[in-house]
This record gives sequence, C-alpha cells and structure tokens, in this order.
Amino acid sequence: MSDKILVTYASKCGSTSEVAEAIGKVLCDKGAAADVRPAKDVADASDYQAVVVGSAIRAGQLLPPATKFVETHQGALSRVPVAYFVVCLTMKDDTEENRRTVAAYLDPVREMVQPVEVGLFAGAMNYSELPLPMRLLMKAMKSPEGDFRDWDSIRAWADGLRPILLGA
Ligand SMILES: Cc1cc2nc3c(=O)[nH]c(=O)nc-3n(C[C@H](O)[C@H](O)[C@H](O)COP(=O)(O)O)c2cc1C
Repeated sequence: MSDKILVTYASKCGSTSEVAEAIGKVLCDKGAAADVRPAKDVADASDYQAVVVGSAIRAGQLLPPATKFVETHQGALSRVPVAYFVVCLTMKDDTEENRRTVAAYLDPVREMVQPVEVGLFAGAMNYSELPLPMRLLMKAMKSPEGDFRDWDSIRAWADGLRPILLGA
C-alpha cells in the first residue's frame, strides 16, 4: 500500500471539484501525498492509506457517482480511515438544524462505510451553468445564486483531517 491519500468527489457544475482540489492541496502542504480524482475515474481504491469522499447535493441526495464509489470500493474502504464531505446550498446558513439535515444526506454511504470525520460545506450556484429547464426551476424555487464557499473553513477542516487520517 502507498502512503497516499485519495481525495475523490462527485460534482456537476464544478464547485465540489474545486473544494476537493483545495482539500488535496492542504493535505499535500502538510506533508501528505494526495491524489484528487473524480469518483467515476477511480478504478482501484485499495492502494491508499486513507480516503476522502465528497459530493454535491441534488434533490436531497449525494450524486450517484459518490454513492457508487463507496458501494464499489466498500471492501477497500472498510480497511482504511475514510472521511466524507458534502457541498450544498443548505449549508449557506450554518445552523444546527441545517447541519442535521445535511448530515442525513450521508446516511446511505454511512451505512456502507463509517467515516472517521465529516465536513459539511456551503456550495455555489450559478444559474448560467444550468440547462434552461433547470435554470427556470431554480429561479422559480428562489434558490440563492452566488458562491457561498467558505475557503477558510474548508482549509481548516482539511488541516485537522491529516492527523485523523494518518494517525500522526
Ligand atoms: C438541480 C439542483 C438541485 C439541488 N438540490 C439541492 C438540495 O436538495 N439541497 C441543497 O442543499 N443544495 C442543492 N443544490 C445546490 C448544490 O448542491 C450546490 O449548488 C453545489 O455547490 C453544487 O455542486 P457542484 O458545482 O459540484 O455541482 C442543488 C443544485 C441544483 C442545480
């Protein structure tokens, strides 16, 4: 097994992939080696010392590639420390109630592999990146538009993650 950490993610419009990149960068700056890959592109997760899995949320659910990744690699993941993170608009308002709601989105993957740590982050919404019908739906739902990612809190989470994942 290598001494690398895998940071893998599912993203539709790119905000979650940028969060994954930022997490990978912090882990590398702290002396760990990390690969950052889309979940659908990871064929083998068994060569990593620890794994971080992240997903955007759509309609109250993790994106299918994130759930499928955990399902497919359940055996390898059950042998190493695993952390999950979620990127969504509910976390724009960081309340206890919203944290409970968003934490529950992880239940399907928690049932397969228990995480050692969980990160819940606000995401971004840019109507112009959405197909027209979805754009109209989001506008009708008055979904907030903007970039609500809090990079300091994302980096702080990643900073605390390294010793938890690598036990150092
Ligand atoms: C069609 C659609 C459905 C969404 N559903 C939810 C939702 O149920 N709960 C939530 O908190 N955020 C929801 N969001 C917000 C996304 O999770 C947020 O914009 C996230 O940053 C998108 O990540 P991505 O850019 O990696 O795709 C939704 C966004 C879209 C476009």
